[in-house]
Amino acid sequence: MDALKPSKDKVLTGIKPTGELHLGNYIGSLLPIIEFSKDSSKDVILMSADWHALTDKKRIREASSYALKAIAAFLCLGYHIEEQSIILQSDFPEILEIQWFLSTASGVGLLERAHAYKDALQNGKESTIALFNYPVLMAADILTFDSQYVPVGKDQLQHLEYASDMAKSFNFLVGSSVFTEPKPLLQDTPLLMGIDGVRKMSKSYQNEIPLFAPLKEIEKKVKEIKTDSKGKDEPKNPEDCLIYQIFKSFASKEATSYMKERLEKGVNYGYGHAKQDFLQEHERVFGTKRELFEHYLNNRDEMRKKLEPGMEKASVLARHTLSKAREALNLLSFKR
Ligand code: TRP
Repeated sequence: MDALKPSKDKVLTGIKPTGELHLGNYIGSLLPIIEFSKDSSKDVILMSADWHALTDKKRIREASSYALKAIAAFLCLGYHIEEQSIILQSDFPEILEIQWFLSTASGVGLLERAHAYKDALQNGKESTIALFNYPVLMAADILTFDSQYVPVGKDQLQHLEYASDMAKSFNFLVGSSVFTEPKPLLQDTPLLMGIDGVRKMSKSYQNEIPLFAPLKEIEKKVKEIKTDSKGKDEPKNPEDCLIYQIFKSFASKEATSYMKERLEKGVNYGYGHAKQDFLQEHERVFGTKRELFEHYLNNRDEMRKKLEPGMEKASVLARHTLSKAREALNLLSFKR
């Protein structure tokens, strides 16, 4: 019953796996979560939210493979799996039952006002019940595991307020404190610019640099990074150089200051050279993990072994929360 000891703060974070991972994902979510996992004063659960990914109807049958790839990436890139947990959302049916309980305490008006929902409709997405319910499912993710803290970016802050509101309303409805009201840990993660230098890096704009794609594919993308027409013997301002801007987000300190110096000096260092250095550092940071990444994907059992201790801890929490909620609702059961 380790998981129920109140000694450590419980932190839950979730990612919605909707595509092949790229540098933008690395900077915006993988890296900050990996950092969190190193804090042994906290119990961290990372959830790969494959049910949430199903709201993307165009790629509904790929959600599961992306969910798996996300988990493999975290394992390869240094998530502290020995101490912390990674779970696959759809392994925990408790979440869906809790989602139903929460929906009894959530007004339609609240969900209609959700920014993410309104944005999705404005972008031409079809208004499915799943899309509408998205915040309730997310609240259930958080409350099922009795989470006290949830690291979120600004875009997810409203969802977190909803989770808190739903916990409060439900507790009020049944007259007991079944759910813990979670608090946000607001993350300030800068957006990474895409290789077109126009929009943020995103798979949907095809301006991304993948993490684990074959070398040839990465090389092609690196070659496409937008530059101006300065020659190899002209000094360049690194702050205006897109290659450098993307490079410094993942490169080592040494590699970053090396490129900065060479650009500033502008002696026999053109954009071609910078792109070569980019590719080399990308290979060092991600390429060397490519084999392990593929290995995990092809050896599901090995992956499961890594996840198992965390899954068990999470299961104890989920069952405990669900039975508290059922009890508070006076639900009966004929099943043993
Ligand atoms: N909605 C989040 C996103 O799109 C992903 C997510 C799902 C999540 N469940 C969660 C985040 C629980 C935090 C906690 O980024």
